[in-house]
Amino acid sequence: MHLLTDFDLTKDQIHEILNLSTEIKANPGKYGDSMKNKTLIMLFELPSLRTRISFEAGMNRLGGHAIFYSIEGGKFTRSETLEDGVKNLNKYVDVVMIRALKHEAVERIGAAATIPIINGMTEAYHPCQNLADLLTIQEYKGKLEGLKIAYVGDGGCNTANSTMIGCSSVGMDVTVVCPDNPKYSPNPEILAKIKEHSGGVVEVSHDPAKGVAGADVIYTDVWISAGMEEEAKMRMEAFPPFKVDMALVKKAEPDCIVMHCLPAHRGYEITDGVMDSPQSVVFDQAGNRMHAQNGLLHWLLNEQ
Ligand code: CP
Repeated sequence: MHLLTDFDLTKDQIHEILNLSTEIKANPGKYGDSMKNKTLIMLFELPSLRTRISFEAGMNRLGGHAIFYSIEGGKFTRSETLEDGVKNLNKYVDVVMIRALKHEAVERIGAAATIPIINGMTEAYHPCQNLADLLTIQEYKGKLEGLKIAYVGDGGCNTANSTMIGCSSVGMDVTVVCPDNPKYSPNPEILAKIKEHSGGVVEVSHDPAKGVAGADVIYTDVWISAGMEEEAKMRMEAFPPFKVDMALVKKAEPDCIVMHCLPAHRGYEITDGVMDSPQSVVFDQAGNRMHAQNGLLHWLLNEQ
């Protein structure tokens, strides 16, 4: 089985992974050899701090081994096809994590692989991030179902997609708070697929104060992701009303937590005051990348 998009997981499967993540996080000694003789290869076409280090450190903690391999500029296959390159990996390693510019490449790798493939972020999805986010929300709130999450910012980006899909799957109420422009709003095809996948109906609001009202979780992400540099000027004009500051946080539930997948651009999508406030859980969330991925690796390699 692969984790190429958040649609690959059902509600029950997400809970199985989260339960394993919690168990491994609480009992590191018990799982210290659980990935012995297992090798993860990490293919990176784009830079990373959290994904790279959390996967490598996580594999190390479980007694396994991780290989970093840059695929920037087509280094992965040189003159052979992507599929032929993957048929080599099938012979050497137990699991592949890939961060790629184009989701299509991850789908092609998945189709050629006989070992599990994990999407470590593409322009369309960031499923490992969502598993870490759900683990963090569960730790802070004690539950997932019935909570309201307000995703504030670019409703069409990869993190928004994964938040909408994953949070809807576990029965959270999702509101995307974004500029009134189809470019920055949720993709209608994704919304339709969410309805089919989990029955979830994502709300969309273009009014930040109304959109976060009643939220148990406020989530934001950068306004300009990798590959969007040409749109920077337009984005810097559209997004300032969607900055997460303390005035906006006060419109949500009093015990609302604030999340960010990081890296954060302080002063833009989130203020210093919010990032450093007691309501911010962003660094625990980053820490949970490793724990959620350890649960995922276990689930994929030992339980599928
Ligand atoms: N959140 C996230 O994926 O961080 P990196 O880009 O540093 O991996």
